[in-house]
Amino acid sequence: MSSENISKIPNSLQEHWMPFTSNKDFKENPRLITGAKGVYLTNHKGKTMIDASSGLFCNPLGHGRKEITEAVSKQLEQLDYCQPFQQGFGGSFELATKISRHTPGNLNRIFYTICGSTAVETAIKIAIAYHRAKGNSQRFRFVGRERAYHGMNIGATSVGGMINNVKTFASILMPGVLHMRHTHLPEHKFISGQPNTGVELADDLERICTNFGGENIAACIVEPIAGSTGTLVPPKGYLNRLREICDKNGILLIFDEVITGWGRTGSPFASQEFGVTPDIMTMAKATTNGVVPMGVVACKEEIYDAVIEAAPKGAVELFHGYTYSGIPVSVAAALAVQDIIEKDDIFNRAKDMSPYFQKGLFSLRDIDVVDNIRGYGMMGGIDMKMNIKAGKAGFECFKACYEVGVNFKATGDCLIIAPQFICEKKHIDEIIDKLRTGILNYSKNLKN
Ligand SMILES: Cc1ncc(COP(=O)(O)O)c(C=O)c1O
Repeated sequence: MSSENISKIPNSLQEHWMPFTSNKDFKENPRLITGAKGVYLTNHKGKTMIDASSGLFCNPLGHGRKEITEAVSKQLEQLDYCQPFQQGFGGSFELATKISRHTPGNLNRIFYTICGSTAVETAIKIAIAYHRAKGNSQRFRFVGRERAYHGMNIGATSVGGMINNVKTFASILMPGVLHMRHTHLPEHKFISGQPNTGVELADDLERICTNFGGENIAACIVEPIAGSTGTLVPPKGYLNRLREICDKNGILLIFDEVITGWGRTGSPFASQEFGVTPDIMTMAKATTNGVVPMGVVACKEEIYDAVIEAAPKGAVELFHGYTYSGIPVSVAAALAVQDIIEKDDIFNRAKDMSPYFQKGLFSLRDIDVVDNIRGYGMMGGIDMKMNIKAGKAGFECFKACYEVGVNFKATGDCLIIAPQFICEKKHIDEIIDKLRTGILNYSKNLKN
């Protein structure tokens, strides 16, 4: 197939088994994206659509950034690959220094992975390796939370809490994982920012410690704002309370900042936004503006020191890594992203645009089929009233919105909105106007 045809409708759609996709539905009515520039996407019918979710929260700096393209192609010409085990190249060290300038506290030790899932998997392994190094091998349990999404490897699936992702694989999940309740309370209706109620839900961790022994728990992992289930913002004081319980019981606190990292809340990380410092933090997606895969785990210095010092001199200290850990092409993209963050004052830009976006988002609350809206910074979730069967409304509404030229991700009955940080007010207006039209069209079809 010629490269020109790859972007048009291919001869056959059957061979590609698409991820997290209704393959039957897609193959009857494909939605192929053929181009992307700035805040806009073009589909195979030649229609221009505004990107209201930054891809999958990946491209906050906009599509087709020349600085990133050039850095990547220059890197490919100079050094396309070098093995990351017992060998390295300068860029990955330079990037680690730059990342550590933004991470909270002393989370200054940086491990590279391939994506968000492998970052979470790595965080889980680092937690275990740390406790072992400290002579606490009995700490094998992990605590996750309902409605969490941490990726799709076995460890990440196990600590996650989205039922459809878990139930098929229940027989092969990691042992010893417990879940706290989610923080989505019925009274949390149409709240922009942090809810005032629900801090006591953090005490689920205390209960788990009482029932299973805090001394047996390795780590507690949460997304500071649960992104994939529709922007569940932590109640005021909730993350602080988790921190206190972890400290009291010697449990490591892991923040999964794969979505919230790199400015989504207006601060570099949600950790700084909410004033709570974890022990380990994961990031991915926006690290490279989504153009090449990369995941990152940042750890407190004492975690790194404990693992490194426990191993005999000359031995590999952590038996873990990936062929694509911090490879030159990903590093080049991430370094270019770091330059743009600095040059364009990206975090402040996101912070400044947030109130305008939130106002627009909540202006949709008058629509009959909208059941709830939540939002923080440059992220928002719109729950649709359930349609016949739970979980159907989001996808149907997504398709109606796609037809009117606004693209985003839907999960279950929720529309996930996460505009790019380069959006101007007119782009936010366009997103909100098109969402209104798309949602109303969806609602009309329901009545017909
Ligand atoms: C919070 C969180 N963690 C982990 C992941 C997994 O990332 P990836 O799809 O890059 O493996 C995601 C993906 O959406 C995520 O939202």
